[in-house]
Amino acid sequence: MVVPRLPRLEQRVVETVRNALTLGTTLKQIAAAIDEDVEKVADCMQNLSSRGKVVRMGRGLWILKQYERIENDPEFISPAEYANRFIAVHGLHISDYHSGPITFSENHHMEKPIQRWAPYVQGFSASFVDEMLQRFSISPGQTVLDPFAGSGTVLVAAKMKGIDAIGVDLVPLMSFMARTKTEWDLNVEEIRTAFRGLNWAQNPTIQSPTFLRMWESHFNKDVLRSLLIIKQSIQDVENPRIKNLFRLALASILVDNSNLKRSPCLGYAKEKNVAADAPFTTFSKKVDDMIQDFMYVKGRAHGSVNVITGDSRSIRYEPESIDIAITSPPYVNGLDYIINYKIEMAWLDMVDSYDDLSKLKDDMVACDNISRAIIRDFSEREDTYRDEWLDDITNRICSRIESKAGYRRRDMHNVVRKYFDDVYHVFRNVYEGLKKEGRFAIVIGDSLIAGVYIPADLILARVGKSIGFKIESVEVARSRRSGQRRSFKLRESIVILSK
Ligand SMILES: C[S@@+](CC[C@H](N)C(=O)[O-])C[C@H]1O[C@@H](n2cnc3c(N)ncnc32)[C@H](O)[C@@H]1O
Repeated sequence: MVVPRLPRLEQRVVETVRNALTLGTTLKQIAAAIDEDVEKVADCMQNLSSRGKVVRMGRGLWILKQYERIENDPEFISPAEYANRFIAVHGLHISDYHSGPITFSENHHMEKPIQRWAPYVQGFSASFVDEMLQRFSISPGQTVLDPFAGSGTVLVAAKMKGIDAIGVDLVPLMSFMARTKTEWDLNVEEIRTAFRGLNWAQNPTIQSPTFLRMWESHFNKDVLRSLLIIKQSIQDVENPRIKNLFRLALASILVDNSNLKRSPCLGYAKEKNVAADAPFTTFSKKVDDMIQDFMYVKGRAHGSVNVITGDSRSIRYEPESIDIAITSPPYVNGLDYIINYKIEMAWLDMVDSYDDLSKLKDDMVACDNISRAIIRDFSEREDTYRDEWLDDITNRICSRIESKAGYRRRDMHNVVRKYFDDVYHVFRNVYEGLKKEGRFAIVIGDSLIAGVYIPADLILARVGKSIGFKIESVEVARSRRSGQRRSFKLRESIVILSK
């Protein structure tokens, strides 16, 4: 008699998926766990899925149907529960923010002068910064700080209003963008002359544009040639500030002209066909926009701007010298900025090797690509930031990862702890630099890690409180989808602290 094979396979598959609980497991992991062929497991999963027993969540992970909604897991602590705890402990309700768009796309799509020069997925909107400056009556002559300045949204918005600004960013590309976007005393005629002088009739002599692996697949061959000609022609520009302007224009057209896209992480785009001369047209358009924007800001009151390339965890500000700080730190377990912006940094010769890229990553606020050695050193330290909510969250992450084989990083709980420790150090420096009663506005998103919810907005508010800040409000600006679990709604909030 032939023993029917499928039901037994089904049983073993279902058992493996059950063990993964709400974390989910991939076809490959299941196949490895039960020593079966991946194709057979895939067929079996399709079968189970058509009968409603299993479902696929984001990133190729499968879970039992009963865990489709993570809230059904009895151990799950939901956003609503945290909100109640927050009211109980801090006497504060989470409210809504109604004052307009918060994401960077507004700067780009609305063609905001200067802000539009360099597209930056992780930035926030200039109108949010304007609203904060207005809400807290910040006027010309006062000073605003952004310790995670990114592409300089805060600095440009402040400068436009005659307000002075200080911005810090660790990544040289970001501080370069911020600095170039806030140097406005250039002569428009000189820019035009320099642009006309760019020699695009030459052959490229630069052989490989960057040290990056796969650089040949980043661009179509003819597009690459055009980009190399532009890069080469910029090298002859004599005025260093105009040269920087052109370098910024080149950096900001690279991804558009490549076979890649950011969504938000850098990856290959499927159907993209860039014309060979597109770099010349997009570069010219960019320089044209820049010239127009210089004319727009000419004759307006300008605040002075100081952009520092450095690590905000260790940069100290003159005590009680800053009127307001407005910022958005990297998000917990968020994007790897170094991988995402490596093309621009390599093309602008800001980094020469993968070692340079890793060194930068090691000093960044911890993200889930941080090196294991850094996390090992961190976990051995005893003087790190502690908070009972955070302890509970990291213990949960730890035990959930232990219960499931094949999780990406087994030290994830320490990555999360380090994230908050890093931000704690930045906040301490901001506190010292702020004037009495000065505000600190923070845009932050929450996260779901290993099936554990992290209310980063509330925890950052608590970080602030532990330093001496008063928590003034936590306002939800928009909701987002979790990449890992599309059914779970995450949020982006504004936390307002005052000294
Ligand atoms: C969310 S982005 C800020 C975007 C910015 N609000 C804008 O509109 O362009 C966070 C920034 O923090 C920077 N960063 C991460 N770790 C840092 C550190 N230790 N010191 C300074 N900057 C850091 C990253 O390079 C990134 O540009």
